[in-house]
Amino acid sequence: MQRPEPIDVEHEVKSVDLIVSKSNAEGNITYTNPIFMKISGYSQASLLEKPHAILRHPDMPKVIFRYLWKTIKEGKDVVAYVKNLCADGGYYWVLATVKMAKNPDGSFRNYMSTRKCITNEAKKTIAVLYGQLLELEKNEGEASSQKAFDEFLKDNNIEQSSAFNEYMKNLNK
Ligand SMILES: Cc1cc2nc3c(=O)[nH]c(=O)nc-3n(C[C@H](O)[C@H](O)[C@H](O)COP(=O)(O)O)c2cc1C
Repeated sequence: MQRPEPIDVEHEVKSVDLIVSKSNAEGNITYTNPIFMKISGYSQASLLEKPHAILRHPDMPKVIFRYLWKTIKEGKDVVAYVKNLCADGGYYWVLATVKMAKNPDGSFRNYMSTRKCITNEAKKTIAVLYGQLLELEKNEGEASSQKAFDEFLKDNNIEQSSAFNEYMKNLNK
């Protein structure tokens, strides 16, 4: 599938919208709910078995996804802001909660992401942070971006992933 050229058109996520997807251990999509298709503009057939990176917007810094994967692989939930690319090149912002689901015997079942709308305040704050991280990534490399992300965590006394999640949820209040 060809990646759409990003355009500066925001797609609205309403307060009632809950955008859900599930994936296998590699992040390949195994389920999407109807609102996922409606907002992203993709059919379910074109999404199933594709990597979630199909939604990756070039404004998203790599360190955020690195943090997301590191945390969910440990079986811990992640609450993070994500700007996603739609089939028409437009975008939408969400606050995603990504978690690992387990089978009754404790083995891995799937990953699930539940995404909801965010406030304009949260959007502004996060766009600045992500913009700084992305600029460092592009100009100085991923290590510099990672260093700045680590400093952001330290400056905000975020030591545990639960504190990260609380910080992100509070920004959206
Ligand atoms: C359940 C789940 C949901 C995800 N949802 C998104 C998403 O909405 N948008 C996105 O860009 N990446 C999402 N990801 C992360 C992608 O797997 C991927 O790491 C990211 O798009 C960056 O792509 P890259 O790792 O190829 O650089 C999700 C991962 C999982 C496990």
